[in-house]
Amino acid sequence: MHCVRNVCDDLYWIGGNDHRLALFENIHPIPRGVSYNSYLLMDEKTVLFDTVDWDVCRQFLENMEYVLNGRTLDYMIINHMEPDHGASIEEVLLRYPDVKIISTEKSFLLMHQFGFDVDGRMIEVKEGDTMNFGKHTIAFVEAPMVHWPEAMVSFDTTNGVLFSADAFGSFGALDGKLFNDEVNFDRDWLDDARRYYTNIVGKYGPHVQHLLKKAATLDIKMICPLHGPVWRTDLGYILDKYHKWSTYEPEEQGVMIAYASMYGNTESAAQVLAAKLVEKGVHNVVVHDVSNTHVSQLIADTFKYSHIVLASVTYNLGIYPVMHDYLLHAKALNVQKRIVGLIENGSWAPKSGSLMKAFLDDEMKQMSVLNSEVSMVSALRDTNENEMDGLVEGILDSLKKNN
Ligand SMILES: Cc1cc2nc3c(=O)[nH]c(=O)nc-3n(C[C@H](O)[C@H](O)[C@H](O)COP(=O)(O)O)c2cc1C
Ligand SMILES: [Fe+2]
Ligand SMILES: [Fe+2]
Repeated sequence: MHCVRNVCDDLYWIGGNDHRLALFENIHPIPRGVSYNSYLLMDEKTVLFDTVDWDVCRQFLENMEYVLNGRTLDYMIINHMEPDHGASIEEVLLRYPDVKIISTEKSFLLMHQFGFDVDGRMIEVKEGDTMNFGKHTIAFVEAPMVHWPEAMVSFDTTNGVLFSADAFGSFGALDGKLFNDEVNFDRDWLDDARRYYTNIVGKYGPHVQHLLKKAATLDIKMICPLHGPVWRTDLGYILDKYHKWSTYEPEEQGVMIAYASMYGNTESAAQVLAAKLVEKGVHNVVVHDVSNTHVSQLIADTFKYSHIVLASVTYNLGIYPVMHDYLLHAKALNVQKRIVGLIENGSWAPKSGSLMKAFLDDEMKQMSVLNSEVSMVSALRDTNENEMDGLVEGILDSLKKNN
């Protein structure tokens, strides 16, 4: 049975939802599932915008056949060739052998690499090209590294619909609710949208900025991403989030305390710090145990909050491996512009503090480490209280400066 939604005149959502996949890209947990969005334009010509992941291919093909209603598929625009969207291209080619594929030069290279039989069916487009399909004219805008080098976005100049590829996407299955105004995005979706953006595209902030600048010149009425809800109201809300995320500016003044602890003493120190901050009126505080919080969540909150406190035991003269792994992810995703406090622990040769500071200073960009560091041996004792209060004051001072 088909499962489609009408997006606007002539345009249909024909994608699918997946609740069975545990890990997106085999890394990121997706407890709320994920949607693979594909769109079909029924103009004088029929035009498909991207395909879907294998997991939902059967549903997608049934949806497409239903909306085509006996017509054939004339064109397939491929904005993004990553297999979560491109995997079903071959199936489309088998069923509609006369279809012409519209995409970028790099995208066709990838199709050949993946072994797709696209020769004789390729229409290569580049920045600024347009194609008319009857009532609708589509303009093509290159979007390299959002999120792969071949990516582009397509803009329907007739009705202002932007097919934005991975940009403006989110983890989370749609479960019937296609549009942003059919959900409570801020309450139910923002965390997953942030976790999706920061972990999947976070590294490519300058490229996203480049795309946002180009998008600002278009009269966009609706954004149709490849994952998550379609935006037809309140576009400024998601554009503002993208602006912050892509410039690595914090969304909120607040503190994420991430601790690594084996026996609970470093954890206690993290709790002492949290309590002291809240006592002083800083209510926007979250505490994460790096050992049982997925690194994608740590990364999302690192993008969200202005202040990060890292509290780690020393482990074989190094940083605790899970904390080190988080730092490597943060570096890889280009995290920058955060104010960082440090708490170290060790029983015979505490080193984690100086090692974390060296990592932040040498490996990452624009990370300001607060001078007041807490260094504890085995457990936090009253003799550490001055250091701890110094850290609290350092955080409070810099929060005041930013307000
Ligand atoms: C495998 C292992 C390696 C450790 N390596 C060091 C070390 O190199 N230097 C040090 O001072 N303490 C080291 N420790 C001790 C812990 O860092 C220390 O006991 C710490 O206080 C534990 O804090 P927690 O209660 O938060 O887990 C090590 C502990 C373990 C289990
Ligand atoms: Fe992608
Ligand atoms: Fe994707």
